[in-house]
Order: sequence, then structure tokens, then C-alpha cells
Amino acid sequence: MSEPLHQRPANGQHAARESREGWPDTECDSRSLGTGAPDGEETPACGSQSAPGRGALVVERLSAGYGGLAVLHEVSLCVKPGELVALIGPNGAGKTTLLRALSGLLPCTGRIQLGQQALQGRSPRQIVQAGVIHCPEGRQLFPDLSVEDNLRLGAHLRRDREAVEADVELVCELFPVLKLRLRQRAASLSGGEQQMLAIARSLMGRPAVLLLDEPSFGIAPLIVGQLFDVLRELNVQGLTALVVEQNAQLALAASQRAYVLEEGRIALHGPSAELAHHEGVRAAYLGL
Ligand SMILES: Nc1ncnc2c1ncn2[C@@H]1O[C@H](COP(=O)(O)OP(=O)(O)OP(=O)(O)O)[C@@H](O)[C@H]1O
Ligand SMILES: [Mg+2]
Repeated sequence: MSEPLHQRPANGQHAARESREGWPDTECDSRSLGTGAPDGEETPACGSQSAPGRGALVVERLSAGYGGLAVLHEVSLCVKPGELVALIGPNGAGKTTLLRALSGLLPCTGRIQLGQQALQGRSPRQIVQAGVIHCPEGRQLFPDLSVEDNLRLGAHLRRDREAVEADVELVCELFPVLKLRLRQRAASLSGGEQQMLAIARSLMGRPAVLLLDEPSFGIAPLIVGQLFDVLRELNVQGLTALVVEQNAQLALAASQRAYVLEEGRIALHGPSAELAHHEGVRAAYLGL
């Protein structure tokens, strides 16, 4: 693949493999395998300084809900350039709500920063233009449009038409089954193929940060494994992503760091390999 389908981390920085030189320890402190900070205190997940590197998604004290229902309570987290970060938690914890708030689909309070850009209060369109691309729960494809048209819609804010054409080819290399189905209606694809299309459509926007909600939902384990193989490969090439996933085992295996969201609060966070051995996580999310 000649050029990656996402914005490269600044300065070739790849958080998964390279040192975190230049990052304050409070920023994305992966050593803090602890509970979220009590209300009113600085959470150890993110410090108050903004990220020095371009492209880090920093969320501070984000609260959101629906009408009178408060769902998220001062959630703080960050995703460094090149990181794949997992967000796990039980049904109803607020994972989808968080991604909706980050995408501008839901009003929220708190601070959302992508590098030097403040995103809170911006429209969904402006947030996509900033590079935060949401691959939603339930895929939300355009069922009556072709696979190809769905892909092109993922690039509808881009003006670099030649590069868009090249990216259609690239996503078809990533997911060869899509190339065979380019003229087919999206609705005629299998569930796994639809999920591939949804991810491919998001990649067509060249995300600086991909927000991916439940990629494994309703899909056969074999296909889920293939999807995560592709995600891991994209991450090795530099894709930055926040992945919400009910399959905690898979999510922890694929990610460098993870956050556990419970009842709208970050209950735990740390390196995924350490969380996978955490007694509470093993009991609650890994069935061990
Ligand atoms: N549109 C809505 N209107 C009112 N309440 C909502 C709405 N969407 C979600 N909720 C409520 O917000 C809470 C969090 O829901 P959310 O979908 O964010 O959870 P989740 O962690 O993504 O769960 P799941 O793992 O089942 O996808 C739940 O109590 C849910 O009932
Ligand atoms: Mg959800």
C-alpha cells in the first residue's frame, strides 16, 4: 500500500512503538492503572495541559446526556497519535453516548481538543473536517446505495478527487470482498461485509482519529477476527483510533491502552496488557 488511508501522526510519531518523549506524564498517563479521579479532582487520565503533538484527542471532564437524563459524568481520556485505544464497559455505560458527543451529535460540557483545535461546540461537519471520523454503532450505511457510492460518501468533504479515487482502490485492497461488490446495494451485503464497508467508508474520510463503535456487533467470530487483523495492521501503519468494543478480550488484545467506562464514569484505565490481568476486569469483562 503506497500511502496510508489516514492522517499520519505528526513527525512520524507512533505512540504504539515509540517513546513518549515530549509528553507530560499526566497526559495519557498509561502507568495509572487506577480508578478514575473522584469528582472535582484532576483525573489521572489526562492533565490540564494541551497535547504538544498535533492530532492527540484530549477529552476533559466531558458530561452529556439526553434531556434530563445525565449519562456521562466528567469523563476524561486521551488518544495519542498512532495509538489504538479501547473503551470497554457494560451495556448502557455510555460508550456510544461518548462517541456521539465527540462527534458533535450530542451537546456536552467539558473540553474536547484535537491537537491545537478545540472541538467542543463544533458541528458534526466541522468535526469531520477536523479529522475525527465516527464509524457508528449499527453501521448506518445507506442501504439502497451501492457499495461504491457508500464509499464515496465517506469522502464527501474531500476536494482531492484523484486521491479519493486512489483511496477507493486502497480500501478495496484492505477489504477485497468490497471490490467484488462495488455495484451491489449495501443492503444486500452480509453483516460482516456491511461492517467492512462501514469501516472502509470511515477510512475514506482519512481520519486523524477514527471513532469506532462496536465493530464486532452481530458478526461471526471468524469475520470479527479478520476485521481486527485489518485494524491492527492499519494501526501499525499509523492509524489512530478509539474503539468501543463489548468483546473485551479482543479489544484489550488489539489496543495499547484501554479505559473502562461504568455508569458514565471512567472506572479504570491503563495499558491494555495490564488491564487484561486486572482481577476486576477479568471477572467483569473477560469471564475469568
Ligand atoms: N436517544 C436516547 N434518549 C434517551 N436515552 C438514551 C438515548 N440513547 C441512549 N440512552 C441512554 O443512555 C444510556 C447510555 O447509553 P449508550 O447507548 O451510550 O450505552 P452503551 O455503553 O453504548 O451501551 P451498549 O454497550 O449497549 O451499546 C443508557 O441508559 C441509554 O438508555
Ligand atoms: Mg453502544
